[in-house]
Amino acid sequence: MLVAPSVLSADFGNLERDVKAICEAGCDLVHVDVMDGHFVPNLTIGPVVVSAIAKAATKPLDVHLMVENNTFFVELFAPLKPEYISFHIEEEKHPHRLIQKIRSLGIKPAIVLNPHTPPESIEFLLQDLDMVLLMSVNPGFGGQSFIESVIPKAARLNEMRNRLNPNCLIEVDGGVSDKNVMLLKEVGVDIVVAGSYVFNHPSKQEAIKSLQV
Ligand code: DX5
Ligand code: ZN
Repeated sequence: MLVAPSVLSADFGNLERDVKAICEAGCDLVHVDVMDGHFVPNLTIGPVVVSAIAKAATKPLDVHLMVENNTFFVELFAPLKPEYISFHIEEEKHPHRLIQKIRSLGIKPAIVLNPHTPPESIEFLLQDLDMVLLMSVNPGFGGQSFIESVIPKAARLNEMRNRLNPNCLIEVDGGVSDKNVMLLKEVGVDIVVAGSYVFNHPSKQEAIKSLQV
């Protein structure tokens, strides 16, 4: 299991220190939550701060867009060369076009599904994706509790991707800890995002290790 700590739970007064700390503690990716105050009832960071994160990080960035105007934000973040940019299917009228755009910018495209959105909704997009991100909380905030129905949903998505695109990774985001990571592993999840669990743990290294199952 790969681990992507969410910087949303970092101390923003000490952002460089915290980003370096998770990278030195052995994380695989750095998860960056971009919220616009419209798609979700919270507002986070833009390209100025994400560029500071990119400078401090020694691991690739995983940018999770929770915004209304995906194309605008893709263009804004592409110069920072993240590994992945993921956008919500609930907010995109032309997902195929946006996937092609992200790929043409040299970035791996990913789609995010809210807890209620069925994996079948992206059946005809799966061939073109590098990753699918399943939300296990309603997006907007760190520290919420894990929604259990993501387990059978990930199992269904795993069956679909094995059939249609075995190279496409499955990531789960929200309420992940050492208590549920094994259940996610068993249904084929490849990457977990963890914010409060990693940043509230007395040892970031131990926290990350406990998720790399
Ligand atoms: C929620 C964000 C998550 C969040 C995870 O909208 O997408 O990445 O920061 O935080 P925890 O792990 O605390 O649920
Ligand atoms: Zn996220």
